[in-house]
Amino acid sequence: MRMYDIIKKKRDGGELSTAEIDFFVQGVTDGSIPDYQISALCMAIYFRGMSVRETCDLTFAVRDSGEKVNFSAVNGIRVDKHSTGGVGDKTSLVVAPVVASYGIKVAKMSGRGLGHTGGTVDKLEAIEGMRTTLSDEEFIDQVNRIGLAIVGQSRQFAPADKKLYALRDVTATVDSMPLIAASIMGKKLAADDDCIVLDVKTGSGSFMKTVEDSKKLAKLMVDIGKNAGKKMVALITNMDRPLGYAIGNSLEVIEAVETLRGHGPEDFTEVCMTLAGYMLSLAGMGTPEEAERLARRAIQDGSALKKFAEVVAAQGGNPALIENTDLFKKAAHAHAVLSPAEGYIRAVNTEAYGLASLALGAGRNTAEDAIDYSAGIILKKKTGDFVKKGEEIAVLYSDRAETFSSAEETLLAATEIGARPEAEPLVYAIVE
Ligand code: URA
Repeated sequence: MRMYDIIKKKRDGGELSTAEIDFFVQGVTDGSIPDYQISALCMAIYFRGMSVRETCDLTFAVRDSGEKVNFSAVNGIRVDKHSTGGVGDKTSLVVAPVVASYGIKVAKMSGRGLGHTGGTVDKLEAIEGMRTTLSDEEFIDQVNRIGLAIVGQSRQFAPADKKLYALRDVTATVDSMPLIAASIMGKKLAADDDCIVLDVKTGSGSFMKTVEDSKKLAKLMVDIGKNAGKKMVALITNMDRPLGYAIGNSLEVIEAVETLRGHGPEDFTEVCMTLAGYMLSLAGMGTPEEAERLARRAIQDGSALKKFAEVVAAQGGNPALIENTDLFKKAAHAHAVLSPAEGYIRAVNTEAYGLASLALGAGRNTAEDAIDYSAGIILKKKTGDFVKKGEEIAVLYSDRAETFSSAEETLLAATEIGARPEAEPLVYAIVE
């Protein structure tokens, strides 16, 4: 079999066989297929799509591409949630400790930033000392002891996805339904959790721009998971605006800690509580409504914050930062973006907001780029807010002041000011 022929077949709209998909994933995993051919096939898949059968084959090949963590030593039911990626999406930092505070096990393997979106692992690494790589023994021991551990993908875990994810990030091939489904479900099935809640983001800041496409992606992933015997539910949530006010790694950790203290932004808190409710409910803690009340209680009584602090300490992070978020390193420079007009923020292009944050240093342009953890954006106004001419709509943070002018330009071009917009739901649909 030749990779050239597989690329050509897909480029011309053909359906790849199971053997061809296995050959591709095997070659990605063992390094025998060069990056340019992997990228070329991803681009062909981006344009030509995949049938449900091809997507399932790709998912299972990704699942089987590495070693499985043996979770048989974890006592109790394991629940996970995975987001398709958004801007300001720091939900894992809140929902995982909420759920773990009820004794449900969360063995979380998270990703890094992808395209214009942020990643949980990058955010966690903004906490000084925080280790996001644990040995399997440490990982399982921590899940058994405190109910929650959050790590990045180890080299042996779904290695095909690790390689594909990094290449897709820099070749404009992220926003493809089969590639997203295989990436997410390949990892989720390899992790072998009992229950999985998917947060499928929809709108300008997500990889799926319409509710219809998001529903299709959600259904595809829920079906793949159910066929593999998992309890699944997917929420379609609004990403036509950033979630919360903070975009950028340490800024988002600070906002997540504020949310765990019960002072989080309304939209972000709402989405977190809905997700945590579904996770608790799948784990047997009542109906989604009853479980959501439990989630709110874990915020009110401080048990979720306590759980997060425990996880940070267990993974070597500096606990003082969680007690006092003023101690996070600040960016060397700040720059206020002022409104050019008076009116309501009618709409924003959330992807552009993510790209502006990336330009400030919060994300990567190439796979090798280092991240400036303190870089990012604090929004002062969001969709639906009234703004006067000259009023601050956002503050940009970076160690490199020379990044401000292009980030400001991007942000202003992405912000529509005019008549009051219609209110939009935060959760569009539940796919079960
Ligand atoms: N998250 C993933 O893990 N993979 C994708 O392809 C997109 C979002």
